[in-house]
Formats: sequence, C-alpha cells, structure tokens
Amino acid sequence: MKLWILAGAAGMILSNCKQPKMKVENHTYGNYHDVVISHIALNLTVDFKSKTLAGQVSLNINNVGKVNEIILDHKNMVIEKTSVDGKDVAFQIGNSDPVLGAPLTIPITQESKIVTVQYKTLPDAEALQWLSPEQTHDKKQPFLFSQSQAILARTWIPLMDAPAIRFTYEATIHVPKNLMAMMSAQNPTELNAEGVYKFAQNKPIPSYLMAIAVGDVQFKNLGRNTGVYAEPGMLDKSVWEFESMQSMVDSAEALYGPYAWGRYDVLVLPPSFPFGGMENPVLTFATPTIIAGDRSLVSLVAHELAHSWSGNLVTNETWNDFWLNEGFTVYFEQRIMEKIYGHNYAEMLTALSRGELQHTVDDMMADPKQKEDTKLFLNLDGRNPDDGVTDIAYEKGRFFLRSIENVVGREKWDAFIVNYFKTFAFKTNTTARFIDYLETNLISQNPDWKNKINYKEWIYEVGLPKNCESIQSVELQKVDSAISAYKTNWDAKAMHTEKYTTHHWLYLLRNLPELDVNKMKSLDEKFGFTKSRNAEIQCDWYQLCVKYNYESAFPAMKIFLCSVGRRKFLMPLYKGLVKTEKGKHFAMDIFKEAEPSYHAVAANSIRELMGM
Ligand code: BES
Ligand code: ZN
Repeated sequence: MKLWILAGAAGMILSNCKQPKMKVENHTYGNYHDVVISHIALNLTVDFKSKTLAGQVSLNINNVGKVNEIILDHKNMVIEKTSVDGKDVAFQIGNSDPVLGAPLTIPITQESKIVTVQYKTLPDAEALQWLSPEQTHDKKQPFLFSQSQAILARTWIPLMDAPAIRFTYEATIHVPKNLMAMMSAQNPTELNAEGVYKFAQNKPIPSYLMAIAVGDVQFKNLGRNTGVYAEPGMLDKSVWEFESMQSMVDSAEALYGPYAWGRYDVLVLPPSFPFGGMENPVLTFATPTIIAGDRSLVSLVAHELAHSWSGNLVTNETWNDFWLNEGFTVYFEQRIMEKIYGHNYAEMLTALSRGELQHTVDDMMADPKQKEDTKLFLNLDGRNPDDGVTDIAYEKGRFFLRSIENVVGREKWDAFIVNYFKTFAFKTNTTARFIDYLETNLISQNPDWKNKINYKEWIYEVGLPKNCESIQSVELQKVDSAISAYKTNWDAKAMHTEKYTTHHWLYLLRNLPELDVNKMKSLDEKFGFTKSRNAEIQCDWYQLCVKYNYESAFPAMKIFLCSVGRRKFLMPLYKGLVKTEKGKHFAMDIFKEAEPSYHAVAANSIRELMGM
C-alpha cells in the first residue's frame, strides 16, 4: 500500500505504514544516480525556545534518469509540505531505520527543476546541540551548533546524505538579534541588526560538510585570509593560541597547491563539542580544549586545515573509504607541523601516535568483532559509519602513506600528491580508484616499488604490516631515560622533566611502568597531574587514576567528565570505569549528571558502551 500525504503532521501517521525494506547503498536512500542535485537553498529560522529550525530547503535537480520520484534522506524531523516547481505535491515517508532514518519520496516529472520541502527539526535532532547560556563559556547567551559528519546532516536538512553527492548552497538564516550565525561558507564578521544572515557556498561540497552555528561570538583577524571566531571571553586567548594559523595555511599551500576555499577561519565552540575539530569548509569547528595556554595542541588546526585538500577537495566516496580522508589528512598535518616547528617536533607527535596505533591494533586484533575493522578499506554496509572512526583510518592510513614516501622518496611522493589533489579536486574518490591512480602515476615508475609498497596488505588485510615503521623521537628518548631513572628506586624526583611540553608528559604517562596507589600519589605530589588544566594530560592521567584506583583524583575527574564533551576524552574514562562494579555505579552517576550537557554523538557512544 502506498500512502501519500499532502501536508500535515506526517511523521505520526507514517510510522504505522508497512512498506518493504529498501535496499540502501552508501548509507543513503537517495536515488542520486537518477536525480542529480546541483544546488540547495535553505531558509531557516532558529528558535532557541522550542529548540527547532523551521523553514524550507529547495533543491535544484536534474532528472537524468527520467524517473518519476526523488528520494531524500531525513531522520527524526517533521515534514510539513512538499512542492515541485512551486506546486504542492503529496509526499511519502518510508519505514524508519535507527541509523539511517527514513526515505522521503516526492513525485517529480522529467522536467522538474526545483523540489522544495517545508519542515521543522525536533529538539533532539542528533546533529544539533542546543546549549543553554550556562553551558557556554561566557554563560550569557544560548548557543547552537551542528555536527553533520558522518550521516547526521539528514537530521537537520532533508537531502541526499552521502559523501558521493556534491552541491553548492545558499542560505538565509534568521536568528535572535543579539546572536551571530555562521556556516560552512563565507561568514559575517559583525552582528546583523535584523538578525538575518545570508550565506553562499559556491564550491560544491558533500552534505556532511553542511554546518551551522549560532551564538554570542566575535571575530578577530589573524592574517591574510585567516581568523578566529569565539565567545568574547575566549577570543583573546584563542587569538594568542592560534598565532601560527596563517603560516599553517601558507605552508599547506607551499606543500600541496592552492587553498581552494577563500578564507580559513576557526570557530572555537563551547566545551560540549563532541570532537576535537570538524573541517567544515571555510570555518573549522574546534573544541576549546585545544586552547591550552601554551600553543601545544595546535596540530589539531593543522589537521582540520589539511582536510581543505584531503576530504573537502578530494572526498571519500563512501564511508568505507574513510581512510582516504583521514589517513591523508594526518599525513598532511604532520608535514605542516614539520614545516613550521621542525623535524624533531613533528617526529615527536608522530612517535606518540605510533604508540597509540599499536595499542589500538593490539586491542582490535584481540577482539573478533573488531578484527576486520583493522583493514584500511572497511565494510560498513548495514552498520553505523561511526564504527569506522578509529585509529585505523587515521594512523594506519598515515603510516601507509608514510611508507610510500619512504620507498619512493619525498620529492616524487610530494609531486604525486600535488597531482592527486589537482586531478580529483571537487570529486570523490574510492580506494580502488586511488590504487589505480597510484599504480599508473607512481608505482609504474620503478619495477621494485610494487613489492616494497605492498598496498594490498596495508589496505585489504587486518593488523599492521610487519615493516610498519617504528619512530625514533629524540625528544621522547629523553622521557624514556627519565622513566628508567624512576624505575631504579621509584623516586619521582629522579625524573628530569625540565622543558617538557604536553607531548613529553603524554608520552611519560603512557609509558610508566606498573604503578600502585602510593606511587600514583607521589607522582601527583611531584607533578600535580590531578590539578592539570590541559585536557589531554587530564585524560591520560585520569585513566591511570581509574586503573590504579587513585581515588583522591576522582572528584577532579568527575568535574572533567561533566564539563568537557569531547568524545575522545570521555570514552576511555568511561571505558575504564565500567570495568569494575563500583566504577560502573560511579560512571552511571556521572553520566546521569553530565548527559544533558553532552552532544548526541558523545552521549550515544557512552550509552552503547554502558549497555544502556
Ligand atoms: N572529520 C573529523 C571528525 C569526524 C570524523 C567526525 C568522523 C565525525 C565522523 C575531524 O577531522 C577529526 O579527525 N577530528 C579529530 C582531530 C584530529 C586532530 C585527529 C578529533 O576530533 O579528535
Ligand atoms: Zn580528520
């Protein structure tokens, strides 16, 4: 039975409607091979009281397959009305899937040009987080931000939500008069008196890069085409922290070709942002936890900036190819860091990540459910693409690319990458096509290279190839010596930690020998870890506190878990806690208190971890 709805509270009627399950490819219901979307226009009103976005999206289409319907993705929102070229038409909503949402089907003809959907989001739209003033840094005004990657754009815009599909966009956004609206497009630098903001993104982007933020935010210029947006109370600190941003852009361009997006700005979000950073074009969204006060965590900016090439310019075609986005980006990030801060500093960061990668691979290989996910090329069909967000895509990806550099030499490798970005600019790429391109443009140059590079093992086999490089870092060897000195008679004072940066500390915390509560106490007395204000150090230290049941640090850890929403910090701590019955209760209590301040992305992961 087909049920078509002309207008009204569609969502309610539809859940009862029995329809066959649709075959879904690339995590989208969209019939994008038949109907090409070239541009979308949004007109939305942001209402903090009802926590909704309401308005419409118009999609410019070309019905190349001459089909009689367009199918869009949407999840957990109210569809009020649909029209085609100005004429109202009935729409149909299919069965809802907990990960994918439901297909929204609208009849079209061969000549149809513009499909318009009038809709309203729900307060619990997963991409959006609506913050009360208390949940912001300055605690004066509410704040809204989105996180669309991987497949959450469909919770705030009905569209075809797959990275294989690109379109340009324009938007008119209505907000309360004292707040500024920003998107992944060229942005305002001043408040608009009417609270109406117009945006245009003239470069085609995939849906996961659709982004919006609204808040009491101010802007400061950093350089030729760089700047920072932050709440007033965070602005100056952010400006200071990001001193190197313009030189990052300049270095990136010198390495791999022109920056394609005009300006590069960073928006420092309130602490509940569930990621470290998100590479929304023109405007990276960033966690405030990188504002460490010593510029030690700015490699995250290099990372998000690098995505302006790997990801935003050349995009993974499916989430199975996610390593093409992240592996390239980590590699590129490291090259930017090397250019600005020198070889020793960059190798220190790489060595630290190499250690993390080993842990991840060891853990995942020991778990039959996760073993397959240690391949670079993933199989996420029928699963949540979030499952692919592990160190594999990032770090195994990076070490694969680094191994190619080691085989062919930097000069040839860099020339290859420049051409790669040029060739695939504003296109999507698959792992198979990447291999093809690699074979034709690099490997074919030397008969020895195929075996040496051995991409098949890296991409299609589990674990790490035996020859995966281990990194010697001069800086971290100093920490190794300190740890050896400590081990002689467990005296924290024997460690010489002068001039340590965040990364020395992290390496130290990750490589300490087996400890106990008393040793933890003396380390804490000497180094004051529990009192640290550096989120990276806090996260590592509190993990040890949980492991060795060093309870004096628990109140501080609780404050940390309740005030920071970055999933990378939350997960290992909750994971550590749930290992014991007592810890589990403690974790539950903390989660109950903190949950309202977590973004859905983080809250869902924790719920899954705790079996809730
Ligand atoms: N694009 C990612 C964030 C992401 C990936 C969101 C997949 C949703 C699904 C972003 O570029 C990223 O990798 N962020 C990292 C920081 C980085 C320095 C490794 C993060 O958030 O920790
Ligand atoms: Zn990334």
